[in-house]
Amino acid sequence: MVFKTLDDIGDVHGKRVLVRSDLNVPMEGGVVGDASRLRATVPTIAELADGGAIVLILSHFGRPKGVDASLSLRPVAVALADVLGRPVGFVTDCVGPIAEAAVAAMHPGDIAVLENLRFHLGEEANDPDFVASLAKLGELYVDDSFSTAHRAHASTEGLAHVLPAFAGREMGAELNALDKALGHPVHPVAAVVGGSKVSSKLDVLLHLVTKVNHLMIGGAMANTFLAARGINVGKSLCEHDMAATALDVLARAEAANCTVHLPYDVVVATEFKAGAANRTVNVHEIPADAMVLDLGPAAVEMLGDVLKTCKTLVWNGPLGAFEIEPFDRATVALARIAAALTAEGLVSVAGGGDTVAALNHAGVADGFTFVSNAGGAFLEWMEGKALPGIVALGGDA
Ligand code: 3PG
Repeated sequence: MVFKTLDDIGDVHGKRVLVRSDLNVPMEGGVVGDASRLRATVPTIAELADGGAIVLILSHFGRPKGVDASLSLRPVAVALADVLGRPVGFVTDCVGPIAEAAVAAMHPGDIAVLENLRFHLGEEANDPDFVASLAKLGELYVDDSFSTAHRAHASTEGLAHVLPAFAGREMGAELNALDKALGHPVHPVAAVVGGSKVSSKLDVLLHLVTKVNHLMIGGAMANTFLAARGINVGKSLCEHDMAATALDVLARAEAANCTVHLPYDVVVATEFKAGAANRTVNVHEIPADAMVLDLGPAAVEMLGDVLKTCKTLVWNGPLGAFEIEPFDRATVALARIAAALTAEGLVSVAGGGDTVAALNHAGVADGFTFVSNAGGAFLEWMEGKALPGIVALGGDA
């Protein structure tokens, strides 16, 4: 992938730099629940401010359709200052006279967060007038938000066409990791895909079978594959109407020499609740009144053995109902195996909200080579789609 980075930006002293970060973080009672995205963009902000730039941070927060005071970025700016360890100003509008006056009063090295971009409908519409209003505030544009690169919005795509554009450090780190995982990986490559629905990850599955040597399917979507093969999955979550699609995925995998791994054994229960009575059964013995809530230990052991033969792993989606104990066991066990193999040289890249939560739950997020901060963008990248934010920077992801 060829695109300009901060290494190419030159002397930024006294220059006004618009930095597109993703400050769309979970907030609970005014407190940031997970500051990963704030930490991720700190190197770019600090580097620019240290170079004497006037750093203007742009972001959306939530999905407002116009002004919504409950979705102001003000408390996030406070949290960013904490993480950054230096003052961060806040500007109550991201365009227009208020923003222009605030920017004119800033000095080299100053940092400010501008109010939620989505308070203006022009952001999502990628409206050229809104792009021009944003561009007026800065001289350079740095995109540090891979997690919004799937959006063709004014701040994620439009600005790259009207100002000199560069990828920030977080954007660069994401793209490099994703390139190592699927773009130009060392083979053999394994992909773990979990989650509840084949229908929501069909494009991911179809793309992966052409890219990886081993496709490991878990979560409720594995039930759909088992059912398509004629296995009775009892009362499990299962998309019976996707049977033909599942068989098509399996046929395409075979044609592409990709081995699909479905579970041998599964953990079943008759109730979906924490601590529910459960047992492990062979997939051919799933009781009619039970539902599959996790992969079994034999399945995990087999997946671990396959992983030992692989050089690269990309992971999206939990293997079972990991948020409810004890149905987190397979996800935790395989995540720990992957982390141990990473210490021995496996390149392991994971992404997607649930996946990151599952790796944190297993206590191994730090044991992976790279954990993406992206949700939707990670999924679209796994589908092999061109992401507008990357294309606009001149890259090809
Ligand atoms: C995310 O949380 O995945 C990004 O911030 C994008 O948010 P969006 O789905 O509201 O565009």
